[in-house]
Amino acid sequence: MALLRACKFSLAALTFSRLASAQVPGTTTAENHPQLPTYKCTNSGGCVQQDTSVVLDWDYRWIHSGNTNCKTSNGRPNTSVCPNQATCSRNCVIEGVDYAASGVTTSGNSVTMYQYRTSNGVTNSVSPRIYLLGSDGNYVTPKLLGQEFTFDVDLSALPCGENGALYLSEMSSTGGRSSTNPGGANYGSGYCDAQCPYQAWKNGNMDQAGPYCCNEMDILEANSRANSFTPHPCNSNDCDKIGCSFNPYASGYRNYWGPGGTLDTSRPFTVVTQFITNDGTTSGTLATITRRYIQNGRAVASANPSGDSIYSNNCQSGVQYGGFNTMGQALGRGMVLAFSIWNDNSGNMNWLDSGNAGPCSSTEGAPSNILANYPNTRDYHHIVADYHYQHPDDDDDDDDEHQNDHRPSNSNTNPLGTVRWCRLYWTHLLRD
Ligand SMILES: *[C@@H]1O[C@H](CO)[C@@H](O)[C@H](O)[C@H]1NC(C)=O
Repeated sequence: MALLRACKFSLAALTFSRLASAQVPGTTTAENHPQLPTYKCTNSGGCVQQDTSVVLDWDYRWIHSGNTNCKTSNGRPNTSVCPNQATCSRNCVIEGVDYAASGVTTSGNSVTMYQYRTSNGVTNSVSPRIYLLGSDGNYVTPKLLGQEFTFDVDLSALPCGENGALYLSEMSSTGGRSSTNPGGANYGSGYCDAQCPYQAWKNGNMDQAGPYCCNEMDILEANSRANSFTPHPCNSNDCDKIGCSFNPYASGYRNYWGPGGTLDTSRPFTVVTQFITNDGTTSGTLATITRRYIQNGRAVASANPSGDSIYSNNCQSGVQYGGFNTMGQALGRGMVLAFSIWNDNSGNMNWLDSGNAGPCSSTEGAPSNILANYPNTRDYHHIVADYHYQHPDDDDDDDDEHQNDHRPSNSNTNPLGTVRWCRLYWTHLLRD
């Protein structure tokens, strides 16, 4: 069936227009959400393509009153135009964005995200964060309790110190749309996560209160050298910020994740994450979070011979936040799907890929070091993987899907500091 296509690794962006819904969104730059079709699968109905797109976070946008920035350079509201929310929303408008310049391009069912973009000879860190948006202008909130989530990823161009993240956060599905925030999710409002960020705007309104905590499930935080997945449950105003993660390197499996590793990160692969309940239903209690990988058409053996899993009874730090019960209930209610690419001036992302966590030195992940290597490209392999696995909507008819999979990619190489996500599915649990 045609909907199951290989990642098309070309860089042309496909966009479509969505009209601003009210006055508060500005008219200087139109907001054209890059399309990113995703797939929702059931046993009975197979996989159905969803009319989905991506939207850049609110904080990356120009909020202005005429030529005056409503945000000061430190990201806080300019109190002369924004002394309070009512005045701010009267004075200020929020603009659409140029997605390619912001480090986000989509093509077919893949999205590529760039840490750096060069314009007029100047290279800037753009470090985008985006959310999956439905055709109704609200965030898509997959309900993954008792389900699994599958995607392909190409991390080959993400070096030490970079974090290509795909995660779920329990944000408002409308982005807190209101009379003073009519754009809502269409303009990427409503961010929150389990690090409880203080933000200048919360749900599109000036946030004087903070911190803003949300249950968060990190499905993949990774570069080509290291990775982890981590539940972060929260109570009302605090969260399990560190969380009980699974990282194969930290578990002693040191040759698993990397270029040429058991899972060869120099090539694309498929990531399956299963949220398994105690009774196998979608309303049970979350018991286990399990990771599986597929590469070159074959299941890749787990790093831990008994499975790459996190278990409900094995996470002390989450207990005071309700642990897997809290995380599972959030997964059952549905959470917003977020993608980001970032690096870290304060700690070089050492928690992800250095010391006990991975093979990177404590300094090579410094953004200055990453930037020094940009925009050199390397001879990455871009052979699209051979997807002959039991994918949810894989069937036996000999249609175009596998032929596409055998085609070499139609782009050349990823610039250093990019990540590509592709073929996102949410679905019933795979049969073995
Ligand atoms: C804040 O707004 C005022 C009034 O428009 C403007 O004069 C000033 O430059 C702005 N401040 C900053 C830091 O942008």
